[in-house]
Amino acid sequence: MRSIEEDVLKVLITKEEIDERCAELAEQLHRDYQDENPIFLCILKGAMPFMAKMLDHLKFKMQIECIRVKSYDGMNSTGSVKIDDFNFDLIKDRHVILVEDIIDTGLTMKKTSDLFKEKGVKSLEILALLNKPVLNKVPLNPKYIGFEIPNEFVIGFGLDYDEQYRNLPYVGVLKPEVVKH
Ligand code: XMP
Ligand code: MG
Repeated sequence: MRSIEEDVLKVLITKEEIDERCAELAEQLHRDYQDENPIFLCILKGAMPFMAKMLDHLKFKMQIECIRVKSYDGMNSTGSVKIDDFNFDLIKDRHVILVEDIIDTGLTMKKTSDLFKEKGVKSLEILALLNKPVLNKVPLNPKYIGFEIPNEFVIGFGLDYDEQYRNLPYVGVLKPEVVKH
C-alpha cells in the first residue's frame, strides 16, 4: 500500500510536539475562560484536527460551533474570503475564540474577526495552530498561537494541498515533485 507519507519531504512539527503545545495552550485558556463558558468557533476544514486535539485538554465549560471560511486555492491566497451561512444569534454577547489552522497574511482572520465583532460578540480572540509572521500583512494580534513557522507551504494535521494530506498526524513540507507547477 502506498502511503501519503512518501510525499513528505520533511516533518516540521511532530505529533508529540503538537500534543504538548496544545496542553500548554489549554492551560492558558483555562486561566482566561474557566468561568466564561466561551464558544470555540472551529474554522472548517483546516482547524478540525487542532480543535479535536484541544478538546483532549480543555476541561472547563465551553461550547463548539463550526464555520466554513475559504480563501486559498491550491497554494495561493485568493485574496477574497468566503464565509458560509452562519446563525449569528448563537454568538451574540458571548466570548468567542476563533480556532484556525494557520495565519499567513492574516486577511482571513482579520475579515472573519471583524465580521463577528460587528455581530455583537462580548469578546473575540484568535487561537491558531500556526503563524507565518514574515507574511503577516494586517494588524491582528492573535492571542493564542501554537507555533511560529518560516515561510514554507505546509501540509498535515488539517492543512491541505488541493484537499489532500489533511490526515497526516504531523505538520510537514511536501516534496517539490508532488507539487503541480
Ligand atoms: P491568510 O493569508 O488569509 O491565509 O492569513 C490563511 C488561510 O490560508 C491557508 N493557508 C495555508 N494552507 N498550508 C495550507 O495548507 C499553508 O502553508 C497555508 N498558508 C495559508 C489556510 O487555509 C488559512 O486558513
Ligand atoms: Mg484554513
